Amino acid sequence: MTPALDRRAAESLLAFWAEAGIDALYGEESFDRLAEGAERLKAKVRPPSPPPTPLRTVRPAAGPDIAEAVSQARAAAAAADTLEALAEAIAAFEGCPLRHEGARQAVFSRGAADAPLMIIGEAPGADEDAQGAPFVGRAGKLLDRMLAAAGLEGRVFITNTVFWRPPGNRTPTPAEQAICAPFLERAITLVKPRMLLLAGGAPAKAVLKRDEGILSLRGRWFEWKSSDGKLDLPALPTLHPAFLLRQPAAKKKAWLDLLTLTERLDRQGRPE
Ligand code: URA
Repeated sequence: MTPALDRRAAESLLAFWAEAGIDALYGEESFDRLAEGAERLKAKVRPPSPPPTPLRTVRPAAGPDIAEAVSQARAAAAAADTLEALAEAIAAFEGCPLRHEGARQAVFSRGAADAPLMIIGEAPGADEDAQGAPFVGRAGKLLDRMLAAAGLEGRVFITNTVFWRPPGNRTPTPAEQAICAPFLERAITLVKPRMLLLAGGAPAKAVLKRDEGILSLRGRWFEWKSSDGKLDLPALPTLHPAFLLRQPAAKKKAWLDLLTLTERLDRQGRPE
């Protein structure tokens, strides 16, 4: 018989277990599995003892239905025939969990609707969330200076892989990116740029469906295809401007990427 524990002793024992990482109990009495196994070996015919009743059932929290959200995003994106209609469809879309995690508004795009270059970043940050346009904070200012220096000012359409600010500026999850992907793809097919610049590891991985890190992907040309196979574009991953603010020595690499891209863009734009 277990001696009755007084309340304070029980609380102190529970606190000790919690400190040790034990947060669920599965039976009232300790269970010697080794002895149980030896017993079974001795008397094979004995029926197995019933499983102990858990004192607390640990269930994973129910997650959002990602497949359902993706299919709703697909339908909403497909119904948008113009960039304005697409912006409205995104603003009205309830299916991305980020929308409900403190974002003030949807942040879709800025730039020329007929731009030859589309730049895809990771996600809106605090400044973008406040102003409703992508890349308007410190990283965006650096991006604008780089674009101007490369002669690309006014020739870009800028957007992100997700359209709501992730809490604490964390990287968007693959599920959040997958839910927003139909809108991003629709934006690409409506603008029909001649090429894509993927700013940072998150957009490079999400758009190209690759696993390598940005330092291995950057500066290499890849092919992006629309899901109906009708549009096929060269895509160049590069370093994110926020990373360049933290690591100024890396600016040289990003600048090289931008020059490579501009050279190809101008070569393509030239009449034969
Ligand atoms: N970083 C991004 O990736 N996108 C923005 O819009 C702003 C900062």
